[in-house]
Amino acid sequence: MKIVLLGAAGGIGQALGLILKTQLPAGSDLSLYDIAPVTPGVAVDLSHIPTAVKVNGFAGEDPSPALENADIVLISAGVARKPGMDRSDLFNINAGIVKNLVSVCADTCPKALIGIITNPVNTTVAIAAEVLKQKGVYDPARLFGITTLDIIRSNTFVAEAKGVNPEDVDVPVIGGHSGVTILPLLSQSGFEFTDEEIALMTTRIQNAGTEVVEAKAGGGSATLSMGQAAARFGLSLVRALNGEDNVVECTYIEGPGDKARFFAQPVLLGKNGVEKVLDYGTLTTFEESTLNNALDILRGDIAKGESFI
Ligand code: 2OP
Repeated sequence: MKIVLLGAAGGIGQALGLILKTQLPAGSDLSLYDIAPVTPGVAVDLSHIPTAVKVNGFAGEDPSPALENADIVLISAGVARKPGMDRSDLFNINAGIVKNLVSVCADTCPKALIGIITNPVNTTVAIAAEVLKQKGVYDPARLFGITTLDIIRSNTFVAEAKGVNPEDVDVPVIGGHSGVTILPLLSQSGFEFTDEEIALMTTRIQNAGTEVVEAKAGGGSATLSMGQAAARFGLSLVRALNGEDNVVECTYIEGPGDKARFFAQPVLLGKNGVEKVLDYGTLTTFEESTLNNALDILRGDIAKGESFI
């Protein structure tokens, strides 16, 4: 199994690389690419960790040597938010970066599963889909927006509120990965909340990325928790490709399209990526109205990506 990180020298990329070096199955190849000249050095650094995962690093303008024979590509390349910025403010720089990288993926490893971390995810996934479509290699089952950070944050905050181990909490999160488009289904968490608690908790989860951006005071956005979230998702893809049954993750994919062309919801993963898009169950009145209020924003984010290509 070969896993490629594009953006491997950045804050998310380095955290993700570290986790994958220690947790990928023995015999895996981990390939790191970043425009930054330090990238081969990051690979050497990781290679001293004693696990049976081979690490190679590539820098410069051309990611294709890193991408040859890739099974999974995780893309975190791009710039991060500063205080006062919304994820959509990153569009001007990150849209072009994702377009170029996905275009090389289409030429070099057209069958790879691609997971997009680069923000604004609601839009960059649509950009990636359009690039792959233009190249004639788009398969909706193989393209994912990684929204796992919203799930792990929800698990953490619910566990804090209820005084339980966060590893015992599993909150599905649907919609998108930006502000009001992030909809945690707290009614399915297995815990009781008052209406007021649900409203407050939902808002905290929707603003959790901004909480990190403000706390870092100009030093960027979430990198370590995002590295952990992307590693969980990437390792789930590896398990599914290896034939494990019942690998389920919430992820932003092109599904049935009843709410929006791209939508995050639980998905059964298999050897070809999305095996089955799962039903997210019955929403409460609060969840239903929160979702309805967010759909125009989500659809607008998607349309922005489609018209960029
Ligand atoms: C976050 O939610 C960076 O989008 C990322 O913090």
